[in-house]
Amino acid sequence: MESVRMSAKEKVKEKPQQRVYEDIEDLPSVGAATAEKLREIGFHTVEALATAAVSELVAAGISDKRAAEIIAAAREASEIRWVTAKQLAQYKTTIGKITTGSRAIDNLISGGVETQAITEFFGEFGSGKSQLCHQLAVNVQLPPERGGLGANALYIDTENTFRIERITSMAKHLGLDPDEVSERIIYAEAYTSDHQILLLEKADKVIKENNIRLIIIDSLTAHFRSEYLGRQVLAERQQKLNKHLHKLIRLARAFNAAAVVTNQVMARPDEFFAHSAVSPVGGHIVGHTSHTRILIRKSAGKNVRIARLVSSPHLPEGEAVFKITENGVEDVEEGEVKSR
Ligand code: GTP
Ligand code: MG
Repeated sequence: MESVRMSAKEKVKEKPQQRVYEDIEDLPSVGAATAEKLREIGFHTVEALATAAVSELVAAGISDKRAAEIIAAAREASEIRWVTAKQLAQYKTTIGKITTGSRAIDNLISGGVETQAITEFFGEFGSGKSQLCHQLAVNVQLPPERGGLGANALYIDTENTFRIERITSMAKHLGLDPDEVSERIIYAEAYTSDHQILLLEKADKVIKENNIRLIIIDSLTAHFRSEYLGRQVLAERQQKLNKHLHKLIRLARAFNAAAVVTNQVMARPDEFFAHSAVSPVGGHIVGHTSHTRILIRKSAGKNVRIARLVSSPHLPEGEAVFKITENGVEDVEEGEVKSR
């Protein structure tokens, strides 16, 4: 008897109830031309399409009906559908946590930086925001028993402050091979706010192909701040930033990744975010439910820093003391901090 050879992909497609679409072309009603259009507007993967809005696809010249069909198929494939509260609870159990390197901060945020959500580190210059980003980019690679996710990091650097030497010393301290660790950090520098937006819009493919579970934007706000000066452009700035954050949270949910952003603020935190960037003013979808904010400030002791959990969807406010050393982000030993 002649045997029929079939790829694993075709085999899966045979089963009508449980379809797996590997590429966007595999979705019903997505031909080569539509796939091209979708890619142009930043949808390279089925996962990203599952969280798309019809209007976004329509903007690329796809009809309403078709857009709805494509999104529905992508959702079905990605298993995004109505769930019971019990199923929701189970989905939440897939939330991963990445250690910050400091047990004190981890405790403050109930175990580490969470996937499926945005964590913002904000504070003055030199407070340690970028150091935390470097540390997390290394720590995400640790196995779960050491506080990582055994996965890789995407690093969008807007101020050219990423330092490979820091990664090397942090990796060495953890007994990891620095070369391997740096191979697992996918890096891009963003030159302007538009470039930053574009990088994220095109990120879904690289996230999927590289087992990314941590998306870092350091700094989220620097370009926006320097490019949009004055009251008259404030609304436009916030609108762009909103959209950017919206994209970020959708990527974090689609790929079960942690999103970490930094935001430099003066000693007296300004109202940058209060004006709706992430607060649900106007009913925006990126509400505070997915946003944890941690203020980092310098302290009296050498290298000592204080992390203050300022807002979280489900945790009480609180503070943690940590330090930044040659090894990276660490706990302070008892007696090390006298008084502040
Ligand atoms: P801005 O980006 O300017 O807003 O600051 P930031 O909050 O990102 O600060 P960053 O994370 O760059 O922190 C810089 C501080 O980290 C330095 O002032 C040092 O205190 C500390 N730091 C950085 N590298 C090292 C290191 O190799 N050894 C030690 N001991 N400390 C370091
Ligand atoms: Mg920095």
